Amino acid sequence: MKEHLRLAVFLLPLVAQTGAVAGEITPVDQAALNAGVAADPDATFLTAFDAGDELTEFSFTAREGVGANVGEGRRFSRIPRADLDDPGEWAMHVPTRETGPNATSCIACHIVPAANGAGDVALNAILDPRHTGDPALFLERNTPHLFALGIPQNLAEEMSSELLAIREAARARACADGGRETARLVAKGVEFGSIVAVQTEASPCKVHFDTSLVEGVDDDLIIRPFGWKGERATIRDFTRNAAHNELGLQPVELVGAADGDFDGVTHELTVGDITALVVYMAGLERPVNVLELAELGLAELPETDRAAYLAGAARFNAIGCGSCHVPEMVLEDTNFSEPSDTFGYFDVVFPDGSDPKARGLDAATAVSFDLAADQPNNRIEVDGRTVALGALTRDDSGRAIARWYTDFRRHDMGAELADPDDPQGLGAAVFMTRSLAGVGSTGPWLHDGRATSLEAAILAHGGAAAAARAAYAALDAVAREEIVAYLEGQIIVTLDEEDD
Ligand code: HEC
Ligand code: HEC
Repeated sequence: MKEHLRLAVFLLPLVAQTGAVAGEITPVDQAALNAGVAADPDATFLTAFDAGDELTEFSFTAREGVGANVGEGRRFSRIPRADLDDPGEWAMHVPTRETGPNATSCIACHIVPAANGAGDVALNAILDPRHTGDPALFLERNTPHLFALGIPQNLAEEMSSELLAIREAARARACADGGRETARLVAKGVEFGSIVAVQTEASPCKVHFDTSLVEGVDDDLIIRPFGWKGERATIRDFTRNAAHNELGLQPVELVGAADGDFDGVTHELTVGDITALVVYMAGLERPVNVLELAELGLAELPETDRAAYLAGAARFNAIGCGSCHVPEMVLEDTNFSEPSDTFGYFDVVFPDGSDPKARGLDAATAVSFDLAADQPNNRIEVDGRTVALGALTRDDSGRAIARWYTDFRRHDMGAELADPDDPQGLGAAVFMTRSLAGVGSTGPWLHDGRATSLEAAILAHGGAAAAARAAYAALDAVAREEIVAYLEGQIIVTLDEEDD
């Protein structure tokens, strides 16, 4: 059964894995993007997308400021070096360095099964955010894929907006009744505990929110879909920190004109560079499944495999996997914009203290595209019509369906999966439900890459997922294989681009 699924994938014309690209790179000018948006928004989306493509593949050199002054004459470091704390060295970088720098391109790590993908354990990031210098406390993070990140950001934006609306309604009721109002926090069917609004002053009405019963999300009710622990709200916020931490390229919006990594180079990435990277990752093709490929005639799926996949899908939900890895959500607004204008999902100030608008980053001139139509990659001809395989599909009532397999909620996963340290105070064993979109293509699995098979990843679940794990373990071998077949059927496919 497994062999058939693999075979089906190999029938597709996969793009050969390409290494990082050398040469020259031109910084992206945010002002030029803004002018482009005014003149021709669709073309500007493509311009930004292509520039982001180049930026993720480009192998940066010392000339552009890749790497940092680690100390001891070194530019890169696989392991955190809190011991190097003389002026300008690893431990003295601004902002505080958590890891690296340990690569010259994004796709040095994001490469499984293809560029923009996940990473092997050799590419794990090793972090020491508290600068303990103690390897026993270092955190390890496996590299996740970067495909279609506009989908999780937009879903998170809509869910947070729902939660904030519930909070505001509780505020209004507490003001009207003069008392305490408890509201259940539910967004897209996912429960986040409850919040209590307590009136503290009558006129003008003032309300205190008791957040002690809020679950799985920060007290501010902003869902942060990026990072294994669910730490960052936007692709942009994650990206500028990745550029600094992994590559030693310090974006101006992070450090201004300073040389915070003491490598003699300033202005290492422009505001426009970060915009292009965000637009690229947001607009990459989404992961697909073997069933839809078969329906389009792009893969052979023998009837037994098809039956196994469908049986696995049903079992996945029946034993409780789907309560966290929610198989489908409706995305109301398929327009992705960088920057967004959703509360909590744009920079009010940049980390360097500057005003984003003063640097040209403004929702009024956002680069935007439609997640259900505009993805440039994986556009194919099927029976004489163009299918945008990378885009979200719509159901019979025209609603865009996102198959991201997460509830965007943090869960306590039990002692076995816990980190050795808890620098952010989120709970050492707490992780956000990892999306299973593309999970059949991205091994090894789990936050530190410890699982070398999908079954091992499932059996490592504990804590809030202990019951689902036990239900899985109690199934017979055939039923377990069906669930694994269903997961193996969630794949990343990058098709040949006609115009390359
Ligand atoms: C040294 C390997 C490495 C390099 C180089 C690297 N990354 Fe990553 N990336 C990771 C790891 C590991 C994570 C998970 C980090 C975590 O959750 O704490 C990650 C996560 C991400 C995420 C969040 C994805 C998600 O779904 O949570 C984004 C976005 C990202 N990287 C973008 C980039 C960009 C853009 C670059 C180049 C500027 C880059 N990365 C370079 C290893 C790397
Ligand atoms: C309580 C919520 C919850 C339930 C229930 C749950 N999971 Fe998970 N799942 C998670 C979290 C959180 C992670 C990330 C854990 C980590 O990396 O340490 C995860 C990770 C995974 C991964 C690895 C993903 C990757 O990219 O590395 C797989 C595969 C997976 N789950 C499958 C399942 C299956 C199958 C079931 C049902 C038997 C299930 N999960 C039930 C929360 C849950």
